[in-house]
Amino acid sequence: MAFTGSGKIWMNGSLVDWADARIHIASHVVHYGSGVFEGARCYASPRGSACFRLDAHMRRLFDSARIYRMPPDIDQATLTDAVLETIRANGFKACYIRPIIYRGYNALGVNPFPCPVDAAILTWEWGAYLGQDALERGVDVRISSWARSAPNTLPTLAKSSANYANSSLIKMEAITEGYSEGIALDTFGYLSEGSGQNLFVVRDETIYTPPLTASILPGITRNSVITIARELGLRVREEMLPRELLYIADEAFFAGTAVEITPIRSVDKITIKDGSRGPVTTTIQRAFFDIINGETPDRHGWLTYVYPGEPLQTVAAGSAASRAR
Ligand SMILES: Cc1ncc(COP(=O)(O)O)c(C=O)c1O
Repeated sequence: MAFTGSGKIWMNGSLVDWADARIHIASHVVHYGSGVFEGARCYASPRGSACFRLDAHMRRLFDSARIYRMPPDIDQATLTDAVLETIRANGFKACYIRPIIYRGYNALGVNPFPCPVDAAILTWEWGAYLGQDALERGVDVRISSWARSAPNTLPTLAKSSANYANSSLIKMEAITEGYSEGIALDTFGYLSEGSGQNLFVVRDETIYTPPLTASILPGITRNSVITIARELGLRVREEMLPRELLYIADEAFFAGTAVEITPIRSVDKITIKDGSRGPVTTTIQRAFFDIINGETPDRHGWLTYVYPGEPLQTVAAGSAASRAR
C-alpha cells in the first residue's frame, strides 16, 4: 500500500509534515543499517482507539537500542507518550505505528559512535498484511533457501533494520515463486520464523513454537498467543522443531503484528490437513480479536487507549463483530 504522503511525523521531539520528514543521504543508518525499530498497531475498537501492547513494543525498542549501544536522548515513557501524541495529531482511529531509533548524520565510517542517535515515529493506515481473506483462508508458504542469522552474528532479539536484509531475501524469494511467505530455518536446520512473523504448529492438540534460541525475534504477538493458549488450557511447548513437522501438522499459523494470527494453508505445496483453518487456530484468533475488540476484559492491561474519554463504557449492540469470524 503506497503512502498518502500527508499527515504528521514525530522527529526528535517535534511533529513535522510528512513531506518534511527528511534525513541526509550521508546518515549512518542509510549505509550501514544502524537502526532499531518497532511495528505496533492501534485498533479501532468499539470502546475507542487502542494500541495493542504498546509498552511491550517500546520495551523491545529500548532493548534493541541497548544491544546496539544506541541509547536515545529520550526515555521510554516519554517516547511512548510521543507515539500517542503522533496518533492524535494524525487523527487516526486505527493505524500502524513505526517508532525508529537510528544513527544519523555526522561522519561516514563503520564506527557508528560519532553519529547522533536520532528518533522518529511514523504512523499510517494499514490493512491486512497478507490480503483480506488470509485471516480466514490461510496462506501458501515455502521453506526458504535462506537461513536466519546464526547465533552470535546478527542478534535476533534486537529488531534491527539490518536484520531485514535477510527478511527481504526470504520474502522476495517467496513472492517470486508464487508463495505468500517464506519460513526460514536456523543455521542448524530447525524451524525458525517467517520473514516478519513467528510460527506456530499444532499436532495432537499440542501447540509448538520455536524457542528464542532458534534465531527468532521475540514476538509480542507470539507471547500473547502463548499466554492466551495457556489460559484456555491448551498445551504450549517452546522447542526446537524439525522442518517436516510442518508437513504432518494438524494446523499451522503465523503470529505477528502485521499478520495478526494468519493460518498457513500449505507448506512447499503440501496441504496442511484439509487446508482449512483449524479449530485451535480459530480459537486463538477469536480470543485474540476479542481482547482487541473489547469483547473480553483486558485482563493483562494490553490495551492503551489513545484519546481522552476512551475507553467508552458502553458498547453498541452489534458493533463488536470480531474480525476473525
Ligand atoms: C522477523 C520477525 N519475526 C517476528 C515478528 C513478530 O513480532 P511481533 O509479534 O512483535 O510483531 C516480526 C514482526 O515484527 C518480525 O519482523
